[in-house]
Amino acid sequence: MAPTIRMTVAVLGATGQQGGSVARELLAYPERYLVRVLTRNATSSKALDLTNLGAEIRTADLNDHQSLRPALDGAQIIFAMTDFWQSMSADVEESQGKSLMDILSSLPQLEHLIWASLPDGRKISDGKYSNIFHWQSKAAVTGYIRDSKPGLWEKTTEILFPNYFENCLTAPSRYLPVKINDVYIRSFPLSPGTTLPNVAIEDTGKLVDYVIRHGSTYQTKTITFFSEELSEAEKAATIGRIYDIPVKYKKITSEEFQATLTDMDPTTALDFTEQLMIFEDCGMIYNRPEFIQANKLPGLKLKSWEEFVTSNDVLSYIIDG
Ligand SMILES: NC(=O)c1ccc[n+]([C@@H]2O[C@H](COP(=O)([O-])OP(=O)(O)OC[C@H]3O[C@@H](n4cnc5c(N)ncnc54)[C@H](OP(=O)(O)O)[C@@H]3O)[C@@H](O)[C@H]2O)c1
Repeated sequence: MAPTIRMTVAVLGATGQQGGSVARELLAYPERYLVRVLTRNATSSKALDLTNLGAEIRTADLNDHQSLRPALDGAQIIFAMTDFWQSMSADVEESQGKSLMDILSSLPQLEHLIWASLPDGRKISDGKYSNIFHWQSKAAVTGYIRDSKPGLWEKTTEILFPNYFENCLTAPSRYLPVKINDVYIRSFPLSPGTTLPNVAIEDTGKLVDYVIRHGSTYQTKTITFFSEELSEAEKAATIGRIYDIPVKYKKITSEEFQATLTDMDPTTALDFTEQLMIFEDCGMIYNRPEFIQANKLPGLKLKSWEEFVTSNDVLSYIIDG
């Protein structure tokens, strides 16, 4: 039998949630993949954990063009992401993404780029939602690949990320009901029937492995990554049912919601609010026909909200209001 040729996969953001899932999933197949992770800090505990699992570590910074090329050189597959929240500046994120694509388009060994993105909210809403800056910056990078780097676009699979289930663990006051006088109240600016795309971000690696294994099938395609479309009212009701607690859904106005975002500057708070309100006005935009839905890919099993709640003891994260 011919020996399997290992592919070198470079993973950006591997010390974070999306890239961390990708790195760990691919590291489980050492006969197929040599996993190279990029980080700004090769001695962080998260980077060292990946080294212990067999990853090759390279120091690189998206803000430092010079550091990226040697770190990416020789990779056949690249999982690329940018982190808006690091700078909270869409201009910075767009510029990081475009510089990265300039480099990727000149890498002769690159066979497949998997690009973590978000939709073009302005276009989808016919201009009504023009302040979702952390979507626009990523969508602008996708447009740059498609329009200015056709050779790179031929090798690209774009993945549109959804609301992470894990947000309720990292920011429970924003993503879970709050306990007030023995009732669990979920306050949110969307109607009880308005659904959002949701996924366990820990499943990112499963999708990326699936896409890689399918070779060119999903190149030049956009995949929307979600296991379930759920309203926040349904998610809260599931928590109520699983833990047998009284849960109430309370629709608040977008202005009331925005006023709770006190950790963000006004521009980012508007951005954050509009990324929700677009679903109220335009429906479940991740279901649009131009997208391939990850939850319809044959053989790909993604975690449900119910499975996530029970496996993470979500009740223990709920705070008193
Ligand atoms: N939370 C959600 O529901 C959601 C939904 C859709 C999309 N998103 C998008 O997801 C992105 C964040 O991804 P995540 O959740 O995986 O983030 P995360 O867990 O906070 O991790 C951020 C990662 O980005 C890397 N990074 C940040 N700045 C970098 C730089 N200048 N150079 C190189 N690496 C850099 C960090 O690496 P080092 O620190 O090791 O260098 C880290 O691995 C954001 O752009 C956000 O808009 C989030």
